[in-house]
Amino acid sequence: MKLIIATIKPFKLEEVREALTEIGVRGMMVTEIKGFGSQSGHTEIYRGAEYAVNFVPKIKLEIAVSASMADQVVDTITSTARTGKIGDGKIFVLDIQQAMRVRTGETNEDAL
Ligand SMILES: Nc1ncnc2c1ncn2[C@@H]1O[C@H](COP(=O)(O)OP(=O)(O)OP(=O)(O)O)[C@@H](O)[C@H]1O
Ligand SMILES: [Mg+2]
Repeated sequence: MKLIIATIKPFKLEEVREALTEIGVRGMMVTEIKGFGSQSGHTEIYRGAEYAVNFVPKIKLEIAVSASMADQVVDTITSTARTGKIGDGKIFVLDIQQAMRVRTGETNEDAL
């Protein structure tokens, strides 16, 4: 199983959610966050330390899927969330050690 963490522009949320539903993604976590990437949050030096002064609102998606679906999820997010302008987001893919559906006790892929 893989955990896909993606940041996207907030106005892209509905389009990305629909595209992911179409390829069979059945659940996701959605969080409103602020962050910065390589340039959209300007940094400045203050007393020798670097501070981020502009945090840009983003939506963070966390999606647990079987390993065999991970590439398709990444491709779908990439093609749907891309505008071609700076700040389109980032996608990180992590291994999941264990999953559990609390209601039934089902584990791992059965829990997704
Ligand atoms: N290295 C990182 N670690 C964790 N989160 C990051 C990292 N880089 C970017 N992010 C997250 O992704 C969001 C979007 O970043 P952004 O799309 O501006 O990345 P970028 O690398 O600067 O790309 P671009 O050149 O398109 O702006 C940030 O707000 C932040 O939440
Ligand atoms: Mg950026």
